[in-house]
Amino acid sequence: MKKYLVLVALTGVLAACGGGGGEKKEGDSTTTTTASTGGADLSSNPDYVKGVDMIQRYDCLTCHEVATKKIGPAYQEVANKYAGVDTAVDYLAKKVIAGGSGVWGAIPMGAHPNLSLDSAKALVKYVLLLKTK
Ligand code: HEC
Repeated sequence: MKKYLVLVALTGVLAACGGGGGEKKEGDSTTTTTASTGGADLSSNPDYVKGVDMIQRYDCLTCHEVATKKIGPAYQEVANKYAGVDTAVDYLAKKVIAGGSGVWGAIPMGAHPNLSLDSAKALVKYVLLLKTK
C-alpha cells in the first residue's frame, strides 16, 4: 500500500515536470482561460481537460500563450479566427504536424513530425475551446 502511494506521488511529479524547460507555469494560462471565457465552465469539458493536460507535455507553450501573442498567435485569437469553421480541427491538426507560416505572419511554426494526428487533433480541440467571442 505504501509502495503504491509513493508510486502515485512519483508519477504526479513526473507528469508535472513533463513540459520540461518552459519557464512559464501552465497554471497561469489555465486561470486566464477560465476567466476569459465569460464564466463558461470548461473544466467539465472532456476535450478541455484532456488538452490542458496534454499541451504541457509538448513544446507548444514555448511559442504560444492562451491570451497573449508570443512567437506564435495567442490561442484565443486562433480559436476566434476558426470559430464556426467545421474543417478547422482537421486543417489545424495537420498544420501543427507539418508546421508552416503565412497565416499569422512570416514566422514559421516548426513541424511536429512525431505528433500523431489524433494527438494533434486533441491539442487543437483544446485550442479551439478557448475562443472569447
Ligand atoms: C517554434 C514556435 C512554435 C511552437 C513550438 C509551436 N507553434 Fe504553433 N504557431 C507558431 C507560429 C509562428 C504560428 C503562425 C504560423 C502561420 O502564420 O501560419 C503558429 C500557429 C499555430 C496555430 C494556428 C495555425 C493556423 O494556420 O492558423 C495553431 C493551432 C498552433 N500553432 C498550435 C500549436 C500547437 C498545438 C503546438 C504544440 C504541439 C504549437 N503550435 C507549437 C509557432 C509555434
